[in-house]
Amino acid sequence: MLNPQLNKNGELQHLLTIEGLPRAILTHILDTASSFVSIGDREVKKVPLMRGKSVFNLFFENSTRTRTTFEIASKRLSADVINLNIQASSTSKGESLLDTIDNLAAMHADMFVVRHAQSGAPFLIAKHLIDTKQSHVHVVNAGDGRHAHPTQGLLDMYTIRHYKKDFTNLRVAIVGDILHSRVARSDIHALTTLGVPEVRAIGPRTLLPSGLEQMGVRVFHNMEEGLKDVDVIIMLRLQNERMSGALLPSAQEFFKSYGLTPERLALAKPDAIVMHPGPMNRGVEISSAAADSPRSTVLDQVTNGVAVRMAILYLVIAGASEGGAHPALEAKPPQLEESRKTKGSANAGD
Ligand code: MLT
Repeated sequence: MLNPQLNKNGELQHLLTIEGLPRAILTHILDTASSFVSIGDREVKKVPLMRGKSVFNLFFENSTRTRTTFEIASKRLSADVINLNIQASSTSKGESLLDTIDNLAAMHADMFVVRHAQSGAPFLIAKHLIDTKQSHVHVVNAGDGRHAHPTQGLLDMYTIRHYKKDFTNLRVAIVGDILHSRVARSDIHALTTLGVPEVRAIGPRTLLPSGLEQMGVRVFHNMEEGLKDVDVIIMLRLQNERMSGALLPSAQEFFKSYGLTPERLALAKPDAIVMHPGPMNRGVEISSAAADSPRSTVLDQVTNGVAVRMAILYLVIAGASEGGAHPALEAKPPQLEESRKTKGSANAGD
């Protein structure tokens, strides 16, 4: 089975990685997210699109933004949300991952949102569900090892599209610890699929993986050269928890060569935006002046994450259950169409 996230009709039944997904599916997720954004501004922040569905959040690794925004997204769609406390679960008594999954599936779970330190864990779960004829249970990858973070990639694309409108005339720089970053990998796949003509990777040799050029990325080891005339700067944290051995002299040295300062920001286009998936380490990869500058979209990314995750949860369930040709591309949230007519669109510009 090459791509377990698509069913035999090519419909999205899990979201495991952006790699290999067609542009039409990515664009449809972003468009659907646009229609969900205004729900956050309402007095009653809820629609009934996932009423009666049970979403299990399985976070085997720490998270602030991703776990919380997934929980908010599920609740805004009226799903029942179960946050498994991994430290207090039977996993800590030696139960295997797949035994835990089978037990939760036996409680009639509809969806697992999975974060795991091991690359491939969400794939393993999705494949197991398919192999054991439990394909009605869906898996969304909330970050696996250094492999993929597709929902972060999509919320980054949503934010870029909001500010820049058109992907096909952009220069985007991704800066820092790309070697250990699942966000970088998902962003690169999304940017190239959506037609961005120039994706740059900037960092020291020790923190850039091999094979970037084959992914269509231009590599820079000099920050000043790499930032020249870019439209978007995506800063990354040094992911020390995934590093084995010292790959850098020190955090201070790293900041000297690759930290985003106002002087370096001035090398990018005058309307360039500064992004960061969080958590930010001020004074290591980014200065406070850059992080808090009017060009920073860091908190917008968090806000957009709710609507984008709502779209993903909704489309993964709707895509696989409504039948017909490519429902992931056709499914429309009907109540939202209605509410937009009455409220007007708060998303102009998306
Ligand atoms: C992640 O989960 O990968 C984060 O969003 C980025 C990070 O940890 O640096």
